[in-house]
Amino acid sequence: MSWTYLCDAAEVAPNSLKLVDANDIRIVVANYGSGFRAIPPICPHMEEPLEESGVIANCVLTCTKHLWAWNLISLDMLGETEKPLKTYEVKEEDGKLLAYITEELTYDFEEEDDMDDDFFSKS
Ligand code: FES
Repeated sequence: MSWTYLCDAAEVAPNSLKLVDANDIRIVVANYGSGFRAIPPICPHMEEPLEESGVIANCVLTCTKHLWAWNLISLDMLGETEKPLKTYEVKEEDGKLLAYITEELTYDFEEEDDMDDDFFSKS
């Protein structure tokens, strides 16, 4: 794949998130006021949909579920956050937002239930 249209920049208000479909890949566009980020649609903590649980203030994206947070300019992890935010390269051309997509970005989630099952079955 290559540069793929996400949405018009005007469709994403400052300090807001918008879920878009880019060639069947779900991406959340984040407008942090002085720029945009294109990120996977779920929180890397426990898969919360970020277009619902995410809030942006002062260039920081916070998942309101358990308060993991990332600086959207530097992508630094803040507070108790334990996983980095993955991002697609994004650019604005003629008012349109494009992301460079080579593959769908996903997170690894630990199967905590399976670990519990293993623990009890061995005891
Ligand atoms: S699910 Fe997002 S911080 Fe826990």
